[in-house]
Amino acid sequence: MIGTDLSVAKQLLEADKLVAIPTETVYGLAANALHPTAVLSIYKAKNRPSFDPLIVHVNSVDWVKKLTLDIPKKAQELMDSFWPGPLTLILPKSAMVPDIVTSGLGFVGVRMPRHPLTKELLSNLDFPLAAPSANPFSYVSPTTAQHVEDQLGNKVDYIIDGGPCVVGLESTIVSFETDIPKILRFGGIDQEAIEKVIGSVDLSITNNSNPTAPGQLDKHYATGKPTYLVNQPYELLLFNQEDVFTIGYGEGLFDYNLSPTTDLDEMAQNLFTALRLADKSKRADVAISVAPHVGIGKAINDRLNRASKD
Ligand code: TXA
Ligand code: MG
Repeated sequence: MIGTDLSVAKQLLEADKLVAIPTETVYGLAANALHPTAVLSIYKAKNRPSFDPLIVHVNSVDWVKKLTLDIPKKAQELMDSFWPGPLTLILPKSAMVPDIVTSGLGFVGVRMPRHPLTKELLSNLDFPLAAPSANPFSYVSPTTAQHVEDQLGNKVDYIIDGGPCVVGLESTIVSFETDIPKILRFGGIDQEAIEKVIGSVDLSITNNSNPTAPGQLDKHYATGKPTYLVNQPYELLLFNQEDVFTIGYGEGLFDYNLSPTTDLDEMAQNLFTALRLADKSKRADVAISVAPHVGIGKAINDRLNRASKD
């Protein structure tokens, strides 16, 4: 059921049930992060492999202190600068975090989301929420409550409707597993903004089927259709319009225009809705123009590369 009743959501979560939550990035499929049986039902609902750990969502740094053994200075600086917001930090886990949350790894992903409903929900709970994106494993992430209902409606006990996600792409993940911070996934906060705060970082954006950011499989964020990328929007006009659903930006008539003014934030916001519409359409194939490769455009292009892998 879709609704906005936070007391219903709270009761269900306290009973170890699944609730879909709105965040500024994408919708999450949430359960009590401290109860292994609750967390297990997330993996089952998503059909997610057990090697792919979950992010724990908190509403205070006090929770981070309980969930981790150490908060390096640079991690603290990133929290001060970007939380609540689309940034996940990978930190050494404390014994309080069940192994199933981290897939047995010694590190846990933590994030403080910015959506007002989810912030309020977290402040009413006395436990943090483990939540991956609320989509079947390897499919496009949901950016509206209806997206969640369409695919997981029968597996989730309640969906909190917080409107369309304002960022539209997942959080940036920064790992503190070694002394040098490493970006594991491009997302809502761009590399330049992070480096302004903590200096240069390494990149470890995985592109294989045995990834170190375990969930970052080569093929991900994918529709069920063959998906082709082009470098410039005008190239989309060369495709046969009867067979191919085109997604572009700027000037030009496409089946979906991510942003007529080439605003990268708007393109990110609309990307997953566009992919879902392409999947639903009668056309057999999908063609998309990659984004300008700056700022959040790098996160958009990361998702497009994974969506187009066969
Ligand atoms: O914006 C987001 O991050 C959304 C919202 C719901 O918060 N969540 C999200 O979760 O995108 P998910 O599970 O779809 O992607 C989380 C990614 C996966 O690639 C996972 O492998 C990685 O984070 N991850 C989580 N914990 C990790 C850990 N301890 N070490 C390395 N990677 C980790
Ligand atoms: Mg996901």
